[in-house]
Amino acid sequence: MSEVYEKLITCRKSVRAKTDFQPEVALILGSGLGDFADEIQIIQTVDYTEIEGFPVSTVAGHKGRFVFGYVGEVPVVIMQGRVHYYEGYPMKDVVLPTRLMGMLGAKKLILTNAAGGINFSFRPGDFMLITDHITTAVPCPLIGENVEELGVRFPDMSEVYSLRLREIIQKEAEKLSIPLREGVYVQLTGPAYETPAEIRMCRSWGGDAVGMSTACEAVAARHMGMEVCGISCITNLAAGMSSQKLNHKEVQETADRVAGQFKKLIRAVVRGIG
Ligand code: HPA
Repeated sequence: MSEVYEKLITCRKSVRAKTDFQPEVALILGSGLGDFADEIQIIQTVDYTEIEGFPVSTVAGHKGRFVFGYVGEVPVVIMQGRVHYYEGYPMKDVVLPTRLMGMLGAKKLILTNAAGGINFSFRPGDFMLITDHITTAVPCPLIGENVEELGVRFPDMSEVYSLRLREIIQKEAEKLSIPLREGVYVQLTGPAYETPAEIRMCRSWGGDAVGMSTACEAVAARHMGMEVCGISCITNLAAGMSSQKLNHKEVQETADRVAGQFKKLIRAVVRGIG
């Protein structure tokens, strides 16, 4: 058994000692969305610190726990606070929580994040349905011995973000009259924001939004056969696209400003796909 799988089994044991809850949908909450988890019907919470071998996030404002409960009738597990590559963890640890949620039974994964807008038509506060991603600038989480128990050595990535789920999300957004952009998410390492030259590079690659998470989690989830979808909150225009300098406060403020709408959309999406 690979080292990664052994660690996952240990983590699953820690969680299973606290709850036998069977989630159908897994959610990872990005900046500004964290309190969505406080608003669901909570059955059990498990702090990351209670899980043996679990990577614990260090970002201020990121709570670190799994929340198990119901959104409507749908049993969910929510990662309230994710682990980022820029915190110094190897990629296999960054995606460990995603894999763990899959191993706890979740068949579908909803990814959310805050992102900088690269597409000239995007505005801060817009939501973008992720249609595809570019991870070329960060290490692949599948590097190293393949975890045979989870998936194949060379997994297909031609439809990471499920077309079926994307169509459901579009319909739910329409019902709520929430405008939804679409585009390609580029994951870079962070934690420094990009330079204007890097943003021009991302645009020439075909990117519409840029961020420091998500795509690696999507790859790990697809590897193990989960159905994946993702929505970005465009919190700012990317570097060089306005006269403003970038800072985390602006990102947080925009995320907070539209959090109500974002949560409404996510709630509808969970019920729609669950
Ligand atoms: N760049 C990278 N990550 C981000 C940004 C950005 O402009 N905004 C929010 N997360």
